[in-house]
Amino acid sequence: MSTDLRDLYQEIILEHSRNPKNAGTLDDPDGRATGNNPLCGDRIILYVKLDGDRIKDAKFDARGCAVSVASASIMTEMLIGRSIAEVRQEHKRFADLLISKDDPCLADDDELSALMGVREFPARLKCATLPWEALVAAVDGNETDVTTE
Ligand code: FES
Repeated sequence: MSTDLRDLYQEIILEHSRNPKNAGTLDDPDGRATGNNPLCGDRIILYVKLDGDRIKDAKFDARGCAVSVASASIMTEMLIGRSIAEVRQEHKRFADLLISKDDPCLADDDELSALMGVREFPARLKCATLPWEALVAAVDGNETDVTTE
């Protein structure tokens, strides 16, 4: 990855962590799940409102690092309005991209591009996936906690 691209990705992550989109809570959510990273003690609570099989709204309440907050912000921007099946597909695509040995070939407008910089920091992969695990659990209607370990 070029230095320019790495700088751009870091800039996007910092911007999302400083000004996260969809931070907060939802009253009377259809799904709610907590993601915990026991290694650092961080946690993120995901709330979803559904409209049939689509995500009508999603918010998150995070006590986490810049990567986890940015990932939650980018994820909620991407997935509000999408179907539950698409949420699962995008979660799998994201997880596969993070651990792939191949260079990711993503379209310029692919929202996941900004999070690909995390691939260079294996210790932070779980920070990036934490909100996604929680969202998948929330759309399943689980009130239970999910954990990175
Ligand atoms: Fe705790 Fe990133 S350091 S989630």
